[in-house]
Amino acid sequence: MSTEKKPKVLVARKTFPDIVERLRPHFEVETNDSEDGWPQAELIRRLQGKAGVYIAGGEKIDQILLDACPALKVISTMAVGYNNIDVPACTARGVLVTNAPDVLTETTADFGFALMMAAARRIAESEHFLRRGEWKQWSVTMFAGSDVHGATLGILGMGRIGQAIAKRGALGFGMQVIYHNRSRLPAEQEAPLNARWVEKEELLRQADHLVLVLPYSPAVHHIIGARELALMKPTATLTNIARGGIVDDAALAQALAAGTIAAAGLDVYEGEPALNPALLTVPNIVLTPHIASASIPTRRAMSGLAVDNLIAALTGGKPPTPLNPEVLGRS
Ligand code: DGY
Repeated sequence: MSTEKKPKVLVARKTFPDIVERLRPHFEVETNDSEDGWPQAELIRRLQGKAGVYIAGGEKIDQILLDACPALKVISTMAVGYNNIDVPACTARGVLVTNAPDVLTETTADFGFALMMAAARRIAESEHFLRRGEWKQWSVTMFAGSDVHGATLGILGMGRIGQAIAKRGALGFGMQVIYHNRSRLPAEQEAPLNARWVEKEELLRQADHLVLVLPYSPAVHHIIGARELALMKPTATLTNIARGGIVDDAALAQALAAGTIAAAGLDVYEGEPALNPALLTVPNIVLTPHIASASIPTRRAMSGLAVDNLIAALTGGKPPTPLNPEVLGRS
């Protein structure tokens, strides 16, 4: 029997127990069994001597943490977004970072589409009205919203999830798709999506329903603020399933109250889980708590991929989805 000690890993986010079990043959595993994330000092304390960590979108991996945890070799996030991780700092220290792309694309696109439809057709707003007991009679214009079918779908950020939303709009709802992205899709990818690249300003002016799916970076902080909202149609909706901070939430609340745009659907917020209180005061908004990828099969797939990455990276295998593969092979 080998007397060699197993490397230690930390599962910082509660996840499916059977998926955690897959780590145990390879590692000495410490888990967070509470739904609450640890405060940063606690996370750093528990990372002492750990070679790998499994995290989600909430754990902050920065220079301070990396300096304080010199044994750390692998950061595996179960999210596709990684704006909580200072990847260049990890790379500089030879720490591998992996994320969980692809497995959540279709589920997240389903949700983005649902949020957009709920905003356009005023589903949450009318349900609240009904629950308050305010429905006394049917009327022709009661909660009349805007159509989704045949409308112009605007997508800011045309990565995998953006394209999956475009596919739903074009093929399922006969929508014209316009998008803005740093890079344009090749014509053979645009054609089946009925998609056309436009400048950001045209996107804002032309979209009936604008969906944000771009990754967060400081360069796109408040890329949708008062000025941009003012360019949109008064009948338009805005849906954010990307990251908090991309939209200026205070400006959005004001625009919704003033009728600058018709409605919004938000799944992500600046400073979440706290919300700008002004968002709670406007009726024409659908608010969900960062659940776009939350179907059981998809959350299992995301967790499973994060575990696969951790195992491969620390046992000499090939991690399936590295973000800084240049680190691999460095001793
Ligand atoms: C992701 O995977 O980035 C989702 O937003 C969950 O954090």
